Amino acid sequence: MAFPRSELLEVAWADATDPAAVADAAGVAVAVVGVPVLETPDGPAVAPGVPATVVVSVGGDGLGTALDTTRARQRGFKGKVGQTMVVVGERSAQGSLGAEAPAVVFVGCGRATDSDDAVGATALRRAAAALVRAGGKSGAGVLVLPASIVGEVVGSRGAVQAVVEGAVLAAYRFVSHKRDNEGGGIERFVVAGAGLDTGALAEGTRRGLAVADAVCLARDLVNEPPSSLTPTRFAEAAEEHTDGRPGVTIEVWDEQRITDERLGGLLGVARGSAEPPRLLKIAYEPSDPVTVDGRVPHVVLVGKGITFDSGGLSLKTPEGMITMKTDMSGAAAVLAATSACGDLGVRVRVTAIAPTTENMPGGRATKPGDVLTIRNGRTIEVLNTDAEGRLVLADGLTLATELEPDAIIDLATLTGACVVALGMSIAGLFGSDDGLIGRVRAASERAGEGTWPLPLPEEYRSHIDSEIADMKNVGKGGQAGAISAALLLAEFVEEVPWVHLDIAGPARSDEDNGILAKGGTGFGVRTLLELLEHYGPD
Ligand code: BES
Ligand code: MN
Ligand code: ZN
Repeated sequence: MAFPRSELLEVAWADATDPAAVADAAGVAVAVVGVPVLETPDGPAVAPGVPATVVVSVGGDGLGTALDTTRARQRGFKGKVGQTMVVVGERSAQGSLGAEAPAVVFVGCGRATDSDDAVGATALRRAAAALVRAGGKSGAGVLVLPASIVGEVVGSRGAVQAVVEGAVLAAYRFVSHKRDNEGGGIERFVVAGAGLDTGALAEGTRRGLAVADAVCLARDLVNEPPSSLTPTRFAEAAEEHTDGRPGVTIEVWDEQRITDERLGGLLGVARGSAEPPRLLKIAYEPSDPVTVDGRVPHVVLVGKGITFDSGGLSLKTPEGMITMKTDMSGAAAVLAATSACGDLGVRVRVTAIAPTTENMPGGRATKPGDVLTIRNGRTIEVLNTDAEGRLVLADGLTLATELEPDAIIDLATLTGACVVALGMSIAGLFGSDDGLIGRVRAASERAGEGTWPLPLPEEYRSHIDSEIADMKNVGKGGQAGAISAALLLAEFVEEVPWVHLDIAGPARSDEDNGILAKGGTGFGVRTLLELLEHYGPD
């Protein structure tokens, strides 16, 4: 059976100064027209360059681009990022939003980032998301994107890409297991550029869709119930998804191969489960590679792929287990990002490695006190079977290191402690190389995904000293939990520049908000793609 993908919002683009073209691109009746608004010291102001014609022609009689500042003040609309003010036309003043009642939605884009009127990519994503959320129950949403708010850093293509990402991600809904699916939301989204060239509109739309599709793949995999997304099914879904993608190949190791390859961490975690483990290796070879010092840079991504984390014999509480199908978010992110490299013209080599297993308390499960031997020969005493992520990553990172790449980046829903430290929106960022740390930080900022650096202090290495093995898989109770996990990972990357993202918080959202939907977020996919697109000489 094919892995069920959620339907993505349809997207098109048009020239906002040509109302017929906008209507054409929409295809269906227009439900809402989004007009970007800046937050200024003098109050909210419509972004310069929004052609009144498009709003009047598709937005219905009596509607224009003029913002009623009195009404805005009354409603507390300041033009802050993601804020909206809906104005329904005369014809339909009594009606609710819908295809037959086109409305103008003033969408806040926040303060300009410089002395001009330009705003950043994150603001554009959130503005598009706000329009989608304010939109009708059917029909199209049109967002006017004037050149005035496009800055030099983001660029026209990047701005279009950002709004497309924002719209598609906000419209994402995981309904494959709902029989009663009320539907809802706009059916189509049109970027109506004003003063943007058609190349930027077309290319930005294409790239935005590619990125959003990758993020939504990761969300679909995370949201799928754990007994339908077993390691075996995960591997099949990955094979299906990568099939036919230019430059992308996949290798799946079964239990026998995993044993032959001596992946003792992965096998140790898998022992308690009736489902066999898998190891996924996805490779991307660029068709038009860059060379740095005579070689093509190679980045290896490693993703934690626990398809369900019960805690093993160190069993979690019922409450603590509820969201643990999310524990393969790292694996989903590295798969999704690597598969999208071709669409985005990534010019470096990429390999994704995802050790994948359930963590269950079966009769053959690893017991607290057991010692596992990782592929590189190092031994880990398992004192808490719920600290399983680092065990499978130890093998994954060893494999990554053997490839002698230029960089290793791992993504893992690794510790509850990281959620305590940084909350649900920000990933912990650790690393062995300041250059790589800087690159990942910058990429995450451009991608609009929160990361924050945490230290790897030498003096805390003793927290994972074991009495009988090379190290133990837990640190000191109640102290630096995210750090001690990262310190263990650091033991498996030798001298290769390495970054670890602890995504335990942001991998999941507990609300529908902005570009996020309740459930898996696909966190990390955009950061990785931003990084890989810009990786190379600079
Ligand atoms: N998958 C969990 C971490 C996690 C917790 C992710 C909450 C998302 C939300 C991980 O395998 C785990 O259980 N870690 C333990 C480690 C501890 C036993 C040292 C934790 O954080 O409690
Ligand atoms: Mn665990
Ligand atoms: Zn886990």
